[in-house]
Amino acid sequence: MVYIKQLSEFEGKEVTLKGWVANRRDSKGLVFINLRDGSGLCQCVADENKIPEVEFDQAGKLTLESAAEITGIVVKDERQIGGFEIQVTGIKTIHIAEEFPIAKKEHGIEFLMDQRHLWLRSQRQWAILRIRNTIIYSIHNFFQKEGFVQMDAPIFTGNACEGTSNLFETDFYGDPAYLSQSGQLYGEAMAMAFGKIYTFGPTFRAEKSKTRRHLSEFWMIEPEMAFYDIHQNMDLIESFLQYIIKEVLEKCQAELKLIDRDTSVLESSLNKFPRLTYDEAVAIIKGEKDVNGQNSIKSLENELAEVEAKIAATIAEIADREAKIAVPGMKKGEINFNQTKIANLKNDLKDLEESQRNIPQWIESAKNFRYGNDLGGSDETVITRLFDVPVMVYDWPHEVKAFYLKRNPENSRFARGVDVLAPEGYGEIIGGGERETNEQLLRDKIVEHDLPMADFEWYLDLRKYGSVPHAGFGLGLERLVTWLCKLKHVRESIPFPRMYGRLLP
Ligand code: 4AD
Ligand code: MG
Repeated sequence: MVYIKQLSEFEGKEVTLKGWVANRRDSKGLVFINLRDGSGLCQCVADENKIPEVEFDQAGKLTLESAAEITGIVVKDERQIGGFEIQVTGIKTIHIAEEFPIAKKEHGIEFLMDQRHLWLRSQRQWAILRIRNTIIYSIHNFFQKEGFVQMDAPIFTGNACEGTSNLFETDFYGDPAYLSQSGQLYGEAMAMAFGKIYTFGPTFRAEKSKTRRHLSEFWMIEPEMAFYDIHQNMDLIESFLQYIIKEVLEKCQAELKLIDRDTSVLESSLNKFPRLTYDEAVAIIKGEKDVNGQNSIKSLENELAEVEAKIAATIAEIADREAKIAVPGMKKGEINFNQTKIANLKNDLKDLEESQRNIPQWIESAKNFRYGNDLGGSDETVITRLFDVPVMVYDWPHEVKAFYLKRNPENSRFARGVDVLAPEGYGEIIGGGERETNEQLLRDKIVEHDLPMADFEWYLDLRKYGSVPHAGFGLGLERLVTWLCKLKHVRESIPFPRMYGRLLP
């Protein structure tokens, strides 16, 4: 058996493929089957003069998503998706599929989510999840070549890491336990034993709201490095993300094309990432400081005007095409063409109207941003729309960040945390920072955050036996996939998303 991805090695030869019917089209004496085998897609042409009659009949009966074994000669054809076509010499049916619930027409998102187990077969989902695979592979490659040791943190935990408001509590032999929100505290212990480590595991947060950025279960990559300060941490973040982006650009060209990803921002993200203090970031958001000659508030106002002009133009074009179709005598092909156009325009209109609703809210929240607060989703959107590279925001008011962050020794109002915000409005994909090394300062913070001291004694031990400067960060895998693929919502970045209101399939 040969996989479609390998066809270039078999030009002119006979091969046997096994797969599923992604599409079938019949014309006089010919059946065209688009076969999908997981590795790729390939057109197979069955000619009634070249295969036994029973097999030709079988070919004509293959429904969408039926499984078949197809033998044929590999012929180069530049016009085809993978560059090759199969001239069929034999077909065996493996299974005739019932009517497939996902047809070519547009489906609502909730329907598709209910059909997630089948939706994974669509080309777009296939491309996204292959990009996810390349990202995962390059994450391991990067850390392994940099001398990091991969270590696993537990999933059942006795203490919180990222606040107590979004913990999933379970029963651990009669005692309460939490599903891990982050492996970091264990990562710190492992870094003191192995120097540079990274974890790669599932993490859980009860987020009782539906947003496009939040999952209840997501995968986090958390490196932790002994003897690193915040600046070395940011150097590592930059080279780490750029390595992944380079790999994706290089290895996933076909997938990026399939999902229509304009890669210019990915390419520009290979340039240096700006490093802004919290104070600078706030000034930019509030429109008090420009970026490359652009003002946050003014550029949003301009964009709103553009969006409104586009809405008017789109509505006019829809009306125009609908009027044309209504006149009797138009050819069927032309009617179809116009109907497809109208459907696309209506989709564009939905997006434009969403922007029309969002932009004024972003302007409001940017103007009213209160110094000292954490950045909200819309603040992140406002600032990252001004950049074509990820930006790193560091030195945050210590009150809004986690208990374990070190204070800036020169200005103790600030904690040495860093958030990485992805461009194009995506916002936070990484959170990290330098860790507090002083036992007493940590105890004070644990009290301030109202956390149970006894559960953290093991963590405090790390500050008693060779306490050293150290830093690390956590990358949300799905957030990165979502940005690199320019998805509207994080739910398509993972095979089976778990989020508020979604536990099946
Ligand atoms: O910023 P967070 O909460 O940081 C930590 O958990 C640190 N302990 C990490 C560390 O320093 N080792 O989460 C890290 C990242 C976020 O930047 C975001 O990308 C992702 O995890 N994340 C989520 N992704 C999807 N759904 C959610 N509900 C997420 N919450 C956080
Ligand atoms: Mg964070």
